[in-house]
Amino acid sequence: MRFFPSFLSLPGLALLLTLTNPAAAQSRQDILLTSNWKFTKGDVANAAQPGFKDDKWQTVSVPHDWAIYGPFSSTNDLQQVKIEQNNEKQATTKAGRTGGLPFIGTGWYRRRLAVPGFGPGKRAELVFDGAMSNAHVFVNGKEVGYWPYGYNSFHFDITSFLNPSGDNTLAVRLENQPEASRWYPGAGLYRNVHLLVTDEVHIPVWGTYITTPDITADFAKVKLRTEVAGGSVTQNLRLDTEIRDAAGTVVATLSTALAATDGQQFEQNLVVPQPRLWSPETPVLYTASSKLYAGSALKDEYQTRFGIRSFTFEANKGFSLNGQLRRFRGVCNHHDLGPLGAAINTAALRRQLTLLKDLGADAIRTTHNMPAPELVSLADEMGFMLIVESFDEWKKPKVKNGYSQYFDEWSERDVVNMVHRDRNHPSVIMWSIGNEVPDQWAPGGTKIAKRLQDIVHREDPTRPVTAGMDQFDAVVNNGFAALLDVPGFNYKPHRYPEAYTKLPQALMLGSETASTVSSRGVYKFPVVVAKDKKYPDNQSSSYDLEACNWSQTPDEEFVQQDALNYLMGEFVWTGFDYLGEPTPYDESWPSHSSYFGIMDLAGLPKDRFYLYRSRWNPTAPTLHLLPHWTWPGREGQTTPVFCYTNYPSAELFVNGVSQGRQTKGPSDKPQTRYRLMWSDVKYAPGSLKVVAYDAQGKAVGEEEVRTAGKPHHIKLVTDRSSLVADGQDLAYVTVRVEDAQGNLCPEAANEVQFKVSGAGKFRAAANGNAASLELFHEPHMKAFQGQLVAVVQASDKAGNVQLQATGKGLKSAAVTIQTGSAK
Ligand code: GAL
Repeated sequence: MRFFPSFLSLPGLALLLTLTNPAAAQSRQDILLTSNWKFTKGDVANAAQPGFKDDKWQTVSVPHDWAIYGPFSSTNDLQQVKIEQNNEKQATTKAGRTGGLPFIGTGWYRRRLAVPGFGPGKRAELVFDGAMSNAHVFVNGKEVGYWPYGYNSFHFDITSFLNPSGDNTLAVRLENQPEASRWYPGAGLYRNVHLLVTDEVHIPVWGTYITTPDITADFAKVKLRTEVAGGSVTQNLRLDTEIRDAAGTVVATLSTALAATDGQQFEQNLVVPQPRLWSPETPVLYTASSKLYAGSALKDEYQTRFGIRSFTFEANKGFSLNGQLRRFRGVCNHHDLGPLGAAINTAALRRQLTLLKDLGADAIRTTHNMPAPELVSLADEMGFMLIVESFDEWKKPKVKNGYSQYFDEWSERDVVNMVHRDRNHPSVIMWSIGNEVPDQWAPGGTKIAKRLQDIVHREDPTRPVTAGMDQFDAVVNNGFAALLDVPGFNYKPHRYPEAYTKLPQALMLGSETASTVSSRGVYKFPVVVAKDKKYPDNQSSSYDLEACNWSQTPDEEFVQQDALNYLMGEFVWTGFDYLGEPTPYDESWPSHSSYFGIMDLAGLPKDRFYLYRSRWNPTAPTLHLLPHWTWPGREGQTTPVFCYTNYPSAELFVNGVSQGRQTKGPSDKPQTRYRLMWSDVKYAPGSLKVVAYDAQGKAVGEEEVRTAGKPHHIKLVTDRSSLVADGQDLAYVTVRVEDAQGNLCPEAANEVQFKVSGAGKFRAAANGNAASLELFHEPHMKAFQGQLVAVVQASDKAGNVQLQATGKGLKSAAVTIQTGSAK
């Protein structure tokens, strides 16, 4: 099977251009509707009417998640369910399944809508990047449209609803049902809303489609299809396109007149000489800038950013990008941003991707729904391959009020919008039509899979379709797995060989792997491999040996990935902890966020981060020791020590006394192949040190952990020393409770108070404790295992912003961050 490259359109860039180019300003404006929204929770009669008095409502800016401010309660979306995917035999009460936050119910948003330049011959459109959920959109009291699925982008033409006087009211009613989700969905206008103003003759929303069907070292053929609406061939329509490279140099141009035989679509074939190819390591982008003319009048201007790359999926071989065989080093991520909830923020996403780069990851599966467009654009820019996923259920429900109720009527429209919005992005490598949908084994399920796959192929023939499958016997025997372009299996490493013999594709993907559970910095004794293990403190051990009855430790997947050449890599569940699904504590309130993450809810790396990094990041040395070494009361007791490293062997010392040298190597225990483990170490306070050796036996690195004394001071470490003064940019400041010598106090739970002054504000805090009910937006929080993270947001005025952190009995700390214009 061969799939060709392709790529993307970027309305954000269009805005920049319109602001600097007066000709374009007349033709197209893309205005973000962020400020001066009024919001209320609850249903209100007549709230859509222009004359409605909303002055008592809260003033908010969008993106906005109305539920993230809490309070947490076990009664928010209490679910009495039997989770079949988890092999549960009877229904039990789950309190934190969707995060324990108040997202259920109705919410209203209202705003004045000024439409600059609107008048005869102009048109206006609203584009919602996502609205949670069941959006009814009203302009001047009249409903312009409805879209139920909260994760998808959608748009409505509002031209005929606008007042020529220019005084318009926009109102949006949203409603979240109980028992509609398996994780925290967020609530409200949690993604951006755009107002597009164009000429009547225009290029519609997502109106271009770029593919690069031929790529050689000398040239790439770029095929650009551009739709045109509101005009006709009699108007002498012409499209002038320039392709620019990343430096802005024009590398190809073409002017094309619309012929009577073209319908409403231009097709342009351009040639880019000596193309620079897009890959995760070289995320090179090009932009096609098109100008639409009717005679000599400029009617529209449209930017389509894209990349040039090719890929193949070949039987018995796997996945190649630009001719190079590679395996996905992927993570699955939910859409929430931890303490920010679902409210989208580009800086928060960029920080996630920066951490994933350091991990060595090169791919993300957007589980189990369409991502924010900002994520897809950042993946293009920073170099991540994406599986963009659509649904968690089809006709047969997983939850009482889930997507199944809309499936028949909406699934095609939802798939079409997903593909149209994102098909120009080089980062998007595959489309997923579903995750563990119960229709895998239901009569007719295979037919639905075929229908959805056909829709995707119709809209984008350049990328393969996959799905995450867990019902192995059913899908292998009923034709479901055989019909997919790329079979994806969730948690079935031991059955890959069987799938290989039974399926025609002769390649497959670990679409969801591991689901190991751990709490950052928490270690449990004795150290044993365990399934569904629970402890009274609602935490899981960070020795990375605990999983669910259906899932595995990371190493079990590694063994198969290393042994079987038809595997195309894995997507670990998950990169980051997320709100909701607190397995194995689904029934044990106050747990309300996940334990699956390689990083915790605050984005702090757990030990597992270094296990994956030692495998995935070849360019940086990894040498990480666990557990911490402050165990008053454990003196003389067995305290196993693990080292996660990309060096082949290492020697461990306790207070200078060698504990022997360990070497990674073949063994029946998967762990011994990927971790260095000293199982019989007796704890003695002092120094735990590891010396790593390279393949030639030369000592090449060392790492030491020391026993900490009493909490003494706070240390602040900011990830950014300067921010853009745009009212959105964020610094994540790690707060460490340290002893007088600067050692982390690994069990410290001191409460830390925050004060932000100057050109910014305190936005949120998180400590990664899945059982903490502290509110994210309040400027105080307890450290969890010695650490937490404070999020500082820049204002729109340049200057200095200072974060001050204080705690009882601790020497306080402060950090100053500069804010200014973008470089
Ligand atoms: C999978 C599912 C994910 C998550 C995970 C936890 O079965 O696809 O959404 O629930 O299990 O292990």
